[in-house]
Amino acid sequence: MLVNLSEVQKVSNMFMNAIHEDEIELLNKLYDALKERNFEEADSLMDEFVQDVEEHFSTEEALMREAEFFAYPMHKQEHDMMRKEVDRIYKEWKETKDPSSVIKFLEEVFVPWLKLHVATMDSVTAIHIGD
Ligand SMILES: [Fe+2]
Ligand SMILES: [Fe+2]
Repeated sequence: MLVNLSEVQKVSNMFMNAIHEDEIELLNKLYDALKERNFEEADSLMDEFVQDVEEHFSTEEALMREAEFFAYPMHKQEHDMMRKEVDRIYKEWKETKDPSSVIKFLEEVFVPWLKLHVATMDSVTAIHIGD
């Protein structure tokens, strides 16, 4: 298992929590497939992962625009930085099919970022948006 549900902070908006929970579930499935070197499964989960991250970020951005959240540009900037990272690792995977570099990315980049981002940007945003 890559990340336990309890390691990612709950925010005050249930809809955002549900998005995070689904993402964590998908992350663990992807991680297991990569660890098992199940290339076919990992490849389709990589496609799902990229779509899921985009939906996660664009949903939050839509919620922030609706609520006219003052820190929208800062929050979106953090998403945009991670969009680039995810895009880079996705392209690398498609070229090399090397599980170790995706595993390293998930362990050292994506999960630490997600934990911090949810605990800071997302939790402040959730308070502003309401439940
Ligand atoms: Fe989020
Ligand atoms: Fe966010």
